[in-house]
Amino acid sequence: MSSTSTSATSPGLRPASFRFRCIACGDLSDATSQDFRCPHCGDLLEITYPQWKESPPDADLLKSTWRNRRLSHNAVDLSGVWRFRELLPALESDDQAITLREGNTPLYELPRCARITGVPRLFAKHQGMNPTASFKDAGMTVAATFARRAGFRWVACASTGNTSASMAAYAARGGMRSLVLVPDGKISWSKLSQALDYGAVTCQLRTDFDGCLKLLQQLVLKAPVYQLNSINPFRLEGQKTLALELLEQLDWQMPDHIIVPGGNLGNSSAIGKALVEMHQLGLISRLPRMSVIQAEGANALVRTLREAAGTRLVTVSAETRATAIRIGNPASWKKAVHGLEATGGACEQVSELEIAQAKAEIGAEGIGCEPASAVTLAGLKKLVKQGFVQPNETVVLVLTGNLLKDPDFTIDFHRGDMVRAVKDETQKAALNALRHPPIVLDATLDAVIAALHQAENS
Ligand code: F0G
Repeated sequence: MSSTSTSATSPGLRPASFRFRCIACGDLSDATSQDFRCPHCGDLLEITYPQWKESPPDADLLKSTWRNRRLSHNAVDLSGVWRFRELLPALESDDQAITLREGNTPLYELPRCARITGVPRLFAKHQGMNPTASFKDAGMTVAATFARRAGFRWVACASTGNTSASMAAYAARGGMRSLVLVPDGKISWSKLSQALDYGAVTCQLRTDFDGCLKLLQQLVLKAPVYQLNSINPFRLEGQKTLALELLEQLDWQMPDHIIVPGGNLGNSSAIGKALVEMHQLGLISRLPRMSVIQAEGANALVRTLREAAGTRLVTVSAETRATAIRIGNPASWKKAVHGLEATGGACEQVSELEIAQAKAEIGAEGIGCEPASAVTLAGLKKLVKQGFVQPNETVVLVLTGNLLKDPDFTIDFHRGDMVRAVKDETQKAALNALRHPPIVLDATLDAVIAALHQAENS
C-alpha cells in the first residue's frame, strides 16, 4: 500500500539531494554504472549529501519531525526507514517508495544475558522483526525503490539467503521481476522458501557466496538487471536507519557500544556511516564504539586487521554453520574498516560452539535469533574479558535475523547433535544446561506427569 498524498515535511527541512562519492579517490558523480564502482579507480561508491555542508538540517527539528510522524497514517511515515527520509536520498514524491512497513523494530532489554556477561545495561535491537524477518528490509526498501525509479524491470542479487528473501519480497511489491543467485546446499530452507514464494527466479549455483557475487558482478554489466547487493550504496542508506531508530528509542542517550555481526560487511558499514553523519549533524554529541564480530571460520575482516593492519583484504575460504555470514571475500571491507576506525571499535571472532551457546542464551530470554546474530553476544563476552567493554557501560547487540530463519541449527543444538563431540567437560556441561530436547512419550497422563517431575527436578 502506498500513499497518494505527499506527507508533510516541516518547514525548514529539505529533502536530501545526493551525489555518489568514491570511497578511495573521492571522485564525485551524479550517476553510476551498474557495478556501482568508481569509473576512475574501481573502488566502491557511497552516497553523500553536499547540501549538509552549507546548510545542515536543524538537529532538534529533525528529532521532532521524526517523532511527530509516528502519529501519521501515511505509508512513508509508517515505515521505520522512510520516516527518517531527511537522511536518505530524496524521492520526487512519497508514493514512489516501495514499503512493507519495514523498520519499527523493538529494542529489548536482556536481563539474563546481562547477568551472564556482567554488563547490566544490555539491549538487543532485533532487526529480525522486520517484514521478511531480517535487517535486509531496511536497505531493500530504499534500493528497490531506486531500481524502479530508474526504470528497471529486473533486480538481482547474490545471497546467503536473507538478501534474496528480502529482495524477492520488495521486487514483488514493486511490480519487478527478481533473479536470485545462491550457493547450492548452503542456505537454509526457510530463506530459500521465501524467495520461491515471492516469485524470484532462484538459481542454486554450485559455488559459494563469493562465487555467486563474482558472477553477479559480471552479469549486471551484460544484462539489464539492477544489482541489489550491499555494494549498491542505496542499500546502506536504508540500513543506516537502524542507528537512527535505536537512538530515538534510547531518547538520544548514546550507548557506549554497538555490536554487529560481520559477513559481507554492508551492515557495519551502514551503521558506521550513520553514526558519523549523526555526529556531524549534531544529533548525537559523541560517537559510540561500533564493534564487528565474525565467525572464526569466516574471519576475513579479523585477519585483514591483524595481518595487514586494515590496508588490504585478507580473503579466506569460509566455513561456518552460521550460513548467513559464510563469506570469505567481503565486498564492503574498506567501508567497515572506516567505520571501525571512526568509532574506535574492535573486531573479534568467535567459535562455532560459542555461537551455539550464545544463541541458546538469547533464546532463553524468549527472544529468538539466527546463529549469525548470536555472534554478537559471544563476541561481547570476549570484549568484556579483554576489558574493552566495561561493566558500567551500555551495550546494544544488533540481532540481524529471526530464529525461524534457520530452524535446523536450533533443532540440532537442542537434540544434542552439536554437543556430542565436545571434549572439554566444563564446556559440555554449560552447553547441555541450555538444551531443551523434545521428548517422545506414550500418550498417557502418567508419562506427561513423569516428564513434568523430571524437568522440575533437573
Ligand atoms: N546476519 C545475518 C542474519 C545476515 O543474513 C547477514 C548477511 C549478516 C548478519 C552479515 O551482514 O553482510 O552486512 O556484514 N547476509 C547476506 C545475505 C550476505 O545474502 O543475506 P553483512
